[in-house]
Amino acid sequence: MDADGLKREAAARALEFVTTGMRLGLGTGSTAKHFVALLGERVRDGLDVVGVPTSETTRLDAEAAGIPLVTLEEVDALDLTVDGADEIAPDLSVIKGGGGALLREKIVAAASARMVVIADESKWVPTLGRFPLPVEVVPFGLGATRRAIEAAIAEAGCAGPVALRQTREGHAFVTDGGHLILDLALGRIAEPARLAEKLAAIPGVVEHGLFIGLVRTAIIAGSSGLRLEEA
Ligand code: A5P
Repeated sequence: MDADGLKREAAARALEFVTTGMRLGLGTGSTAKHFVALLGERVRDGLDVVGVPTSETTRLDAEAAGIPLVTLEEVDALDLTVDGADEIAPDLSVIKGGGGALLREKIVAAASARMVVIADESKWVPTLGRFPLPVEVVPFGLGATRRAIEAAIAEAGCAGPVALRQTREGHAFVTDGGHLILDLALGRIAEPARLAEKLAAIPGVVEHGLFIGLVRTAIIAGSSGLRLEEA
């Protein structure tokens, strides 16, 4: 099975966590897209759930799939969020934001009683950092924020270049929230919690893609089948 087939298998397994009446966080990316499509099939068969999308792309997908949507103003908490990830470590700390939706993804995850990540086995790593860590920043003061991030990287015992994310057309990538993304190519993040703390303290940093202590369950689809990892 190819990677996309594995992503769909993981998404299908996550549906087993969904029960009627649930308020769901709907993730972003190619794996979460499968979950939204499969959930839509169940909704059309009568499953009663509502969803909060983590990006404008997912909003459009969910609307097309017929999933009723609400906002975090209309519901005070979510029961379950199902989302993809760029990297998953054995303690279920993850890197997210490869699709640029990390801010809404983290808000939605933090508002959820449970977060389940779904992924093909290529996302499972012994140590986070091979995937460049996305950091969402405000455009104002970009140079100063970038220098502060470079200092934080060194203080956290990491090293590697910081790049402003660009679109294929060569423009700066702009998030749904109107912010920019700096990608930190660190190779290895020995102490993710330390780096997370330092990044979060920088004025101009809106959010970073380290999700620590948020993921309860990971569903990993591989050539030898599905496996569930619990935090
Ligand atoms: C979106 O911003 C990301 O956090 C995605 O959830 C992550 O990049 C995983 O995407 P794929 O499922 O497309 O690999």
